[in-house]
Amino acid sequence: MRDFRNIVVLTGAGISAESGLATFRGPEGLWEGHRVEDVATPEAFARDPELVQRFYDARRANLASVAPNRAHEALARLDAEWDGELLIVTQNVDDLHERAGARRILHMHGELNSAWCLACDARARSPATLLDGPSCPACGKPALRPDIVWFGEMPYGMDAIEAALMQADLFVSIGTSGAVYPAAGFVQTARYRGTRTLELNLEPSQGSIFFDESRMGPASELVPSFVDELLG
Ligand code: OAD
Repeated sequence: MRDFRNIVVLTGAGISAESGLATFRGPEGLWEGHRVEDVATPEAFARDPELVQRFYDARRANLASVAPNRAHEALARLDAEWDGELLIVTQNVDDLHERAGARRILHMHGELNSAWCLACDARARSPATLLDGPSCPACGKPALRPDIVWFGEMPYGMDAIEAALMQADLFVSIGTSGAVYPAAGFVQTARYRGTRTLELNLEPSQGSIFFDESRMGPASELVPSFVDELLG
């Protein structure tokens, strides 16, 4: 493990599950009682902005009641101690990686704590609620939406992610079902380059066959031992 130099880590909802945040693809395919398509598409927002704002307001408020778990903490330790290149790409919109202390983070699906103004395109720290139409701090218009990448929208940071994958000699995927592209395709990009690929997940993901190695179990156990192995 210590021969590696440049690492890309991809995280998904499974890393935050033991902090008490629901994953997306539970047994009934519902997320907090909603179909993902009803709260995570621009069409859903156009059809029923109140429902969508209320949904993300509740998710944002919920952040206050959860804390990073041992998996977030282990990645923060890796970030602090790893002197090679590291990029932690997260699909998660929570702030648990940052609260654990990680710095080299890229939120490819946006962040609950960020708001995006549809009038002037500015982004700013989100107020606690967007439901009551607060003004954009940049242009003053009440046109803020959650800064979340919905289905049909372009994920953030794809150039930086691509560049990091091109340099990586280790790609690690943690707590993601491999159901949503482009993140689900990173393993194939890495593999094509001959990068070592490792999956840490509760169960085999949809792309499990593409990984050199898959370890199954809870992130709070697998991630700390993986980081120990890496840091030696
Ligand atoms: P999913 O809900 O699709 O998958 C979560 C994965 O985590 C599953 O494979 C679980 O088996 C695994 N898991 C659950 N608990 C775990 C634990 N304690 N330790 C380790 N693994 C565990 O979530 P994502 O793959 O993150 O996009 O979903 C990808 C995207 O789909 C999300 O970012 C979101 C959603 O639509 C947007 O909102 C744009």
